[in-house]
Amino acid sequence: MKKKSKKIVVTGAAGFIGLHLSQALLERGWRVIGIDSMNDYYDPRIKRKRLALLKKNAAFRFYKVNIARYAAVEKILKTEKPDEIVHLAAQAGVRHSLSDPWSYLESNELGTLNIFEAAKRLAFSRVLFASSSSVYGTNTKSPMSEDDRTDSPMSIYAATKKANEALAHSYHHLYGIECIGLRFFTVYGTWGRPDMALFKFAKNILIGAPIDVYNRGRMLRSFTHVSDIVAGILGILAKPSRGRYKLYNLGGAETIPLLEFIGQIERATGKKAVRRLLPMQSGDVRESVADWSKARADFGFTPAIGIEAGISEFVDWFRENERFLLSLREPRQ
Ligand SMILES: NC(=O)c1ccc[n+]([C@@H]2O[C@H](COP(=O)([O-])OP(=O)(O)OC[C@H]3O[C@@H](n4cnc5c(N)ncnc54)[C@H](O)[C@@H]3O)[C@@H](O)[C@H]2O)c1
Repeated sequence: MKKKSKKIVVTGAAGFIGLHLSQALLERGWRVIGIDSMNDYYDPRIKRKRLALLKKNAAFRFYKVNIARYAAVEKILKTEKPDEIVHLAAQAGVRHSLSDPWSYLESNELGTLNIFEAAKRLAFSRVLFASSSSVYGTNTKSPMSEDDRTDSPMSIYAATKKANEALAHSYHHLYGIECIGLRFFTVYGTWGRPDMALFKFAKNILIGAPIDVYNRGRMLRSFTHVSDIVAGILGILAKPSRGRYKLYNLGGAETIPLLEFIGQIERATGKKAVRRLLPMQSGDVRESVADWSKARADFGFTPAIGIEAGISEFVDWFRENERFLLSLREPRQ
């Protein structure tokens, strides 16, 4: 008898990372159950496009649901009985968390509580969830290691991600659920978020509009190609659940200053940026550099995509979809 393919629930499936993870899982024969509220923090038309790509595969099923509603979450998990849960849904973005903190508390804290609580009530053995490098907050040690302190978040967004990690520990401690938190470092790639630097920079450089360069460009980032994040998640899923609580940095192959990042976009587009040099944005951090040696030791994580190749792929994608991408409304501030 043919073995039934494995089933996985991916929350935030219409999001940037959710799309790439779901695509990779479908390509590997998983049945993917996507959940997303399709909120309008940034233009949901790009979320619908991502979903259309996923829906081409009959092994993808989608639920438009707000995970802050417990009953809806439990119903999906009860009906679908997935083998794994990867929880990516969140209200992302540092700046917006200063103007609408409630949406962060609702999606990130209540939403995440609902995922863990449903996993407990329905006896799921493991939940992988998205945390963030922002939990390192005011910590100035570089590179950042999972053993470093994370008790001084610098934004409401970072505070909710830190709270997720604490909640995951409680669920692990009380009920033995394997909870694995993934601290992503500045993820970029095709179908990326319109509120993130690469999208905004590429767009403005291509149309000749100025770009806002915070802290006058004196920032350092471990830019992480989305395919490396996906490879990391697949690496964890390939290992059986062992009832652990673990946090992992998933950071990029290259760490470069923001100004060099902009230079790479200029080379890929063949256009010069008009830079508007601005002070540091509140809530943002100067350096975010990943030490990913724990992820390498435990599941072979080795980011492979360099900045030059990643940016050139992004710019090609942007150009191919330029009319659509330029028509998207600006993300909420
Ligand atoms: N992209 C990055 O650089 C980065 C860095 C660190 C952490 N993360 C985390 O990774 C995860 C995925 O990020 P992304 O960049 O793909 O963001 P994204 O905004 O593109 O995707 C998140 C998705 O979650 C959905 N969502 C939000 N609230 C929801 C709710 N209450 N119910 C159901 N769906 C809801 C949104 O509609 C969106 O489609 C998030 O948890 C984010 O905080 C991302």
